Amino acid sequence: MSEFDTVLVVDFGAQYAQLIARRIREARVYSEIVPHTITAAELSARRPAGIILSGGPASVHVEGAPRLDAEIFGLDLPVLGICYGAQLVAQQLGGEVAHTGKGEYGRTALEVAAGVHSALFNDLPLRQDVWMSHFDSIQRVPAGFQVTAWTPEIPIAALEHPERRLYGVQFHPEVMHTERGQELLEHFLFDVAGCRPTWTMASIIDTQVEAIRAQVGDEKVICGLSGGVDSAVAAALVHKAIGDQLTCVFVDTGLMRAGEAEQVEDTFRRQFNVELVHAKVADRFLGALNDVIDPERKRKIIGETFIRVFEEVAADFSDARFLVQGTLYPDIIESGTKDAAKIKSHHNVGGLPEDMQFELVEPLRALFKDEVRVMGEQLGLPEDIVWRQPFPGPGLAVRIVGTVTPERVEILRAADAIVTEEIKRAGLYRELWQSFAVLPAVRTVGVMGDERTYAYPIVIRAVTSDDAMTADWARLPYDVLERLSSRLINEVPGVNRVALDITSKPPGTIEWE
Ligand code: XMP
Repeated sequence: MSEFDTVLVVDFGAQYAQLIARRIREARVYSEIVPHTITAAELSARRPAGIILSGGPASVHVEGAPRLDAEIFGLDLPVLGICYGAQLVAQQLGGEVAHTGKGEYGRTALEVAAGVHSALFNDLPLRQDVWMSHFDSIQRVPAGFQVTAWTPEIPIAALEHPERRLYGVQFHPEVMHTERGQELLEHFLFDVAGCRPTWTMASIIDTQVEAIRAQVGDEKVICGLSGGVDSAVAAALVHKAIGDQLTCVFVDTGLMRAGEAEQVEDTFRRQFNVELVHAKVADRFLGALNDVIDPERKRKIIGETFIRVFEEVAADFSDARFLVQGTLYPDIIESGTKDAAKIKSHHNVGGLPEDMQFELVEPLRALFKDEVRVMGEQLGLPEDIVWRQPFPGPGLAVRIVGTVTPERVEILRAADAIVTEEIKRAGLYRELWQSFAVLPAVRTVGVMGDERTYAYPIVIRAVTSDDAMTADWARLPYDVLERLSSRLINEVPGVNRVALDITSKPPGTIEWE
């Protein structure tokens, strides 16, 4: 991505850094996240146009608090420190940061110094609301710096040394609650760091198309399609680059959502004219899952069966040298702060054995999910694929508690389709992280007409989340719940009761298995 100006975000706390990088990209400047352990030499080798130091949960006073390689301040690069980052600018260059007990949390009134013409605050009102979250504060600025803003609680809310192009703000310009925050960031990017706003989706697509062509030459390439957005966008992009050198493989496990296989056929075979292998292997998956109850065993069996099928299909394409994967940027950010505790053994369509002799093509490696969706739209993929909610690799099997039989898969698939339909009709599909049906392993008594029934309940699971690491149960409107309840019972044979899962994550997980 070297033809775009790059601003590096130094990560002092993963969530803060990602949001800053996304805001920079919204301003059409390419941005990447680097760990705070980066050295001055490593940083300058990346040739950034500027750097932003993120906020973080640490206090600059605690022992082992992360710091920046001090030589970075001597690289003559524009620097903007945010929150913790601003305190580092102050402290590491000879100012003072104190734990005063006067923290600020939430909306705060900022006052900008009237007499100074700060490039950051140019054209912004002298009084504005900003979002704060800190318990330490800057007490004295380093030599040569000036104070450009304050709040009723703290005397130094922004500092700068314009000649050295060093800036710091105690508040968070990246959060939407700081009303003029994006403009402030753009002042840093364009007026201080001199970046050009050239990182547009059209230019990203062009650049990637060139890069894919350069990487694969005239070799053959295969790509596993899962029905999900990442693999679909990766496939569409690679197809744009190399046309019929690409073959897509869709392993139809029989554990997919309603209409998913047809959608893949329609889109890729008919609309895009992609060479598509549709492996209809539901029997193998269901056979292997026969009588299996333990969730981890289900996952393992599905993962292994998937690999076996993929290998068999790939054997027919032994001349292919490259494999496309829909790896995204958040999968590879090297933050050093991620908690890698393993709760479930995730199976992804990308989870292929290492001994497969393919070189990887990963054209989405630099993109966040929302950018992948925009790319998908621009490549002409249908809305249903581009905006599809996440779906686990093992599919419906981990939403069927207990044994996975063809009858139970059919019940769940029909129920899931109704949940999706009603959630979409209520206009909630995009704002929910996931919304789906779960089939427990119990049956309950009911009465329909004059008949006693003894059938399955369906559990509705709907959550909001930013990254699936934590999630809250969605407060679905009662009228939506009412329609769901009546449709699920009336339209899905084998269902006589509907329940709602109101567990957040933690302590629950999003999926039931
Ligand atoms: P949990 O249930 O762990 O799920 O809260 C977190 C997110 O991951 C998805 N998920 C999976 N995705 N392979 C995947 O690709 C898997 O095996 C898998 N298991 C769970 C889940 O849907 C949620 O979005």
